[in-house]
This record gives sequence, structure tokens and C-alpha cells, in this order.
Amino acid sequence: MLEGKKVIIGITGGIAAYKIPLLVRLLVKMKATVKIIMTPAAHGFVTPLTLSTLCGHPVLTDPYDKETGAWNSHVDLGKWADLFLIAPLSANTLAKMAHGQSDNLLLTTYLSAQCPVFFAPAMDLDMYKHPTTQQNITLLQQRGNIFIAPATGELASGLCGEGRMKEPAEILEVIKDHFKKKSDFTNKNILITAGPTREPIDPVRYISNYSSGKMGYAIAEAFADRGANVIIISGPVDLAIHNPRINIVPVTTAGEMLDAVNNLSDNIDVFVMTAAVSDYRPAVVAKQKIKKEDAGEVVLSLKKNKDILAHIGKNKTSKQLVIGFALETENEIDNAIRKLENKNADLIVLNSLNDPGAGFGADTNKISIIDKNGRVKRFSLKGKKEVAQDIVDTVKKIIL
Ligand code: CTP
Repeated sequence: MLEGKKVIIGITGGIAAYKIPLLVRLLVKMKATVKIIMTPAAHGFVTPLTLSTLCGHPVLTDPYDKETGAWNSHVDLGKWADLFLIAPLSANTLAKMAHGQSDNLLLTTYLSAQCPVFFAPAMDLDMYKHPTTQQNITLLQQRGNIFIAPATGELASGLCGEGRMKEPAEILEVIKDHFKKKSDFTNKNILITAGPTREPIDPVRYISNYSSGKMGYAIAEAFADRGANVIIISGPVDLAIHNPRINIVPVTTAGEMLDAVNNLSDNIDVFVMTAAVSDYRPAVVAKQKIKKEDAGEVVLSLKKNKDILAHIGKNKTSKQLVIGFALETENEIDNAIRKLENKNADLIVLNSLNDPGAGFGADTNKISIIDKNGRVKRFSLKGKKEVAQDIVDTVKKIIL
């Protein structure tokens, strides 16, 4: 099932490195192509000869070949891989990854990698528990790297506790699961609204909000990575996305967003309404730039925009799933449940402006997902990519 999959394993200096030959063997048996990068310290724990024999490729450590002077391109390696696993990951390399250091080939490849990065820390329990280590793990997670948590058990020091690298068979399952997920939304059509809308006041001014569109775009990528066809109806954002399975329909106003959603809603399986749609628009859009008046106060008359989520919720078929977002500042759960009911959504993703790291513009988010039965599932603060995966996993449980 891993035929054609290209995996890089980065090995750092830790006793658990002795288990990696078995993992390589398991991956190769499943027909994955495996390349290996070792830090200099890893050589003390497992030999490159063992590893290169098992994977069938030279094991790389230096940025260039000392005999020929040929460059071992970290850029090419980073582009080549479908998955980069760093196991065992020492506290030292973890810290370097978290802070952008790049003094060896493993680290430069990490910074160049275009594929999902999985990391499996292994260290003694006190090093593992240390706040620095924990913060570094959180930093990697917030950037979308996937954490393979260590197990609790006997450690090389003779102590017993948390810090043991997961067994090769367990790591293999994580890798298999990742590639299996990549096709679980094949033939599903997803429509996502994202970003802010802009409601013109006159030719040079508008009403809008701080939405960056990052959450909606991350959800689009998460669905597309798992095989879905995705349309983003996007308000003006400063984001680029290059994925053949994602089509972006740019719009400016709430009215344009509504029209685009209506035009494209046939055959949609899942609607995800992340857009921060302006609830109101100026009742009259001045044709010419409004000039300053002598009076100290200007009154702008506003008209209500149609609620796109409520409109889709009302008209959805029994096969369509509709997900709304709620950004709240008080009585969060009650307000979100009310929104779910009023707009006839199937799920509401709640984020609170009271949670540090959640809300507009941030690269992280902290969400709760509420369903029609009022069940609330709370998630921890994570990178928006990981949050997107949690949302996609929740949808999967309902529709697949
Ligand atoms: N939404 C929408 N169309 C609108 C307004 C909101 O589709 N005209 C969607 C948003 O994309 C989001 C959800 O409705 O999925 C909640 O939006 P929010 O602005 O938080 O809720 P409102 O209903 O506008 O309530 P309030 O502003 O009073 O909190």
C-alpha cells in the first residue's frame, strides 16, 4: 500500500536510533522508497552501512560529498519526499528545528521540505518534561508538523517514564494512516467561503473586517490533500494557493459571495462557511468620493446583507452537510448553539476571541466543534493546518 511513496527518515543521536533499521525494513517491504539523513551524532548509535543496505540508497549526513565535492541538495530532497519523518528526534535537534537553526543536512532539509513532517521525540523523562522541550514540541505542532508522541516505559537511563520513542510498527501505522487518508475524500465536492467581504461606501472606501482567510484556506488544503475537489469563494485576502484540486473564485462583496455560492452549490457535498461576511452594507454607494463636511458627524445608513450560511442551511438537501463558524466574545457556547439552530447548520466551529492565539490573522486557532445534538468537542490550541485536519476528520466521521 505504500508503493511509489517517497519517505525521508531523519535520524538524530539517540539510543532509539537502533530501532530505525527495522522501520526501514518495514517501509521497504511495503514498497515505499526510503532515503535516510543522519545527523553526525546519530552515527554513534546505528551504522550508515546497515541503513543504506536496507533502504538501497546512500545514507546522507554531509551537505556535500567529501570525495567528489558534489552537493547533497537539501532543496531537491525536500521537494522529492512525500513524507519526512524525524525519528528518533533528540531534544537538541528539536530545539534547532523549533528555532530555525540549520547547521546540518537534516536541518536544512527540514527547512526546505514541502511535504508533511512527522516527528517522534525520544529522550529521558526529565528532558522530555522540561518546559523548553514541551514548548518546542508545541511550536512544531503550531507550524503544522505532526507529533508522534513518545510512549511511557523503560528508558535507556534505567528510569521509567514518558520519553520512549514509539515502536517501528506503531510509526509504520501512523505513516500508513497518513497515506490512506490522502484519498478518503476522493470524488467529494467541497465549497468553502473564506476571508472578509468589502462593502463599498464610495469609490475609495469600504466597510470590512480583519479576517485573513487563513483558516478557510487551510481547510481547503486539508480537504484537497485528502482527494476532494474544492472551491473557495474568497473575499480579498493576501494568500496564494497552488493545488490543482482547489479552484478559487474571487469576490468582493457579500452580495457577490452569495451569488457565487448559489451558482456553484449543485453537487456540493460539504459547505464550510468560514468567511467573515459583512452583516451590513451601506444603503447607498456614492458614485463619487464623499467629501468632508463641516459638520463634525456623518451618519452612514446601512442595509442588512443576506445570511449566506442561513440561506444554504435552509435549502440544503439531506445529503449535504453544512458547517458554520462562530467567532464569539462572550457566552460562547450558548451563542454558537443559537447560531447553529437559527442557520440550520449541521456543525458549528466555535472560536473565542478570549482565547490567546485564536481568531483573526493568527497562525493558530483553538476551536470547539458543536453538533446538532448540542455535543461539544473541545480542541487544544493548534496550528491552523492541524485545526483544519481536526475539522476534516470530524466531517469524515459524519459523511464517510
Ligand atoms: N455568515 C454568512 N453570511 C452572513 C453572515 C455570516 O454566511 N451574511 C456565516 C459566517 O460565514 C459564519 C457564520 O455565518 O459561518 C457566523 O457568522 P457570525 O458573523 O459570527 O454570525 P452572525 O450570524 O453574523 O451573528 P453576530 O454577528 O451577531 O455574532
